[in-house]
Amino acid sequence: MTATIAPLASLFEPATVAGLPLRSRFAMAPMTRYRSPGGVPTAEVAAYYRRRTEGGVGLVITEGILVDHPSAGRETAVPHLTPGAAEEGWRRVTAEVHAAGGRIAAQLWHQGGASGAGSRAWTPSGLDGTHGMSGADFPRLLSAYARSARTAVQAGFDAVEIHAAHGYLLDEFLWPVTNRRADRFGGPAHHRVVFPAEVVRAVREALPARMPLIVRFSQFKERDYAARIASSPAELAVILEALAAAGAGVFHASQRRADEPAFAGSGLNLAGWAKRITGLPSITVGSVGVGTDLAGLAERRERGEFDLVALGRILLGNPSWVRLTAAGRTGEIRAYRKTDEQVYP
Ligand SMILES: Cc1cc2nc3c(=O)[nH]c(=O)nc-3n(C[C@H](O)[C@H](O)[C@H](O)COP(=O)(O)O)c2cc1C
Repeated sequence: MTATIAPLASLFEPATVAGLPLRSRFAMAPMTRYRSPGGVPTAEVAAYYRRRTEGGVGLVITEGILVDHPSAGRETAVPHLTPGAAEEGWRRVTAEVHAAGGRIAAQLWHQGGASGAGSRAWTPSGLDGTHGMSGADFPRLLSAYARSARTAVQAGFDAVEIHAAHGYLLDEFLWPVTNRRADRFGGPAHHRVVFPAEVVRAVREALPARMPLIVRFSQFKERDYAARIASSPAELAVILEALAAAGAGVFHASQRRADEPAFAGSGLNLAGWAKRITGLPSITVGSVGVGTDLAGLAERRERGEFDLVALGRILLGNPSWVRLTAAGRTGEIRAYRKTDEQVYP
């Protein structure tokens, strides 16, 4: 480690989080790449994740993987988590990451109203011509999540992350604008969290006792950056405490910038609030390597605000960003460009 990098050492050192020994405190953020024809990740996908691991990432969190139900999503190149060919494809991915000394979590995804499926899209309240969930829909989806969690175990994953952020199904339950229900699943925060918490419980029960279960949540939505599921730390506490009681072991707090305070009156970011509220480890994310000051991030880390830092866009064009930054070889890093999303190095 060079002198210039010494203040950042706390980010690059090995760490054990939720029982998982990791080679660094950097995770790869989940990023949908549309490289899995028919829902099956190819050898190219395995090599893509292996390169980020060789590049110093401690924990890969996969792109969103559709859970085992037709309503989860319809795009054909988005991967699935189902027994058979998709499971075999993921087994190859996990083996490659393990061979390179890394760990890998599967992100379980249901797109809800964002699936573009009109009346075949499942949502809390049937807005915009979608199908409002009722009756047996709930146990069906709980079984789908549990089945996919079991498939993740079979495929060799080290952890599972439930995607409850960004305006997809579970976040549609958490957000009052998309959850207009008047039953036990809607209304105040302790009702809006009921179905997401049931999903957490179903997945927890499907996993071996020691396998970490991460829950990713956000205030913002992809179609509304100002949106909020919680208007105060107290409201956030109601949501996160229910998810923790259901079995969440790590919170992945998605923000557009990791250095942004989540609420007025405190500098803590969203991952900092998640950790303060629940006492559980947390992962921060947002514009790291794309504008967030690394020294400031390291200081937040040293204060114990969060445990891991997830990297998204910067890893698209720089698989070895962690290794190069740790070695002070920043001159070899290419600045992020939007066109990085089109290539698959
Ligand atoms: C191409 C792309 C695809 C993404 N796909 C997902 C996804 O499947 N699941 C998810 O939770 N977030 C997804 N995200 C959000 C990222 O995980 C991350 O939170 C976001 O890019 C901010 O981090 P960054 O500033 O380091 O890129 C995606 C982002 C990008 C750029």
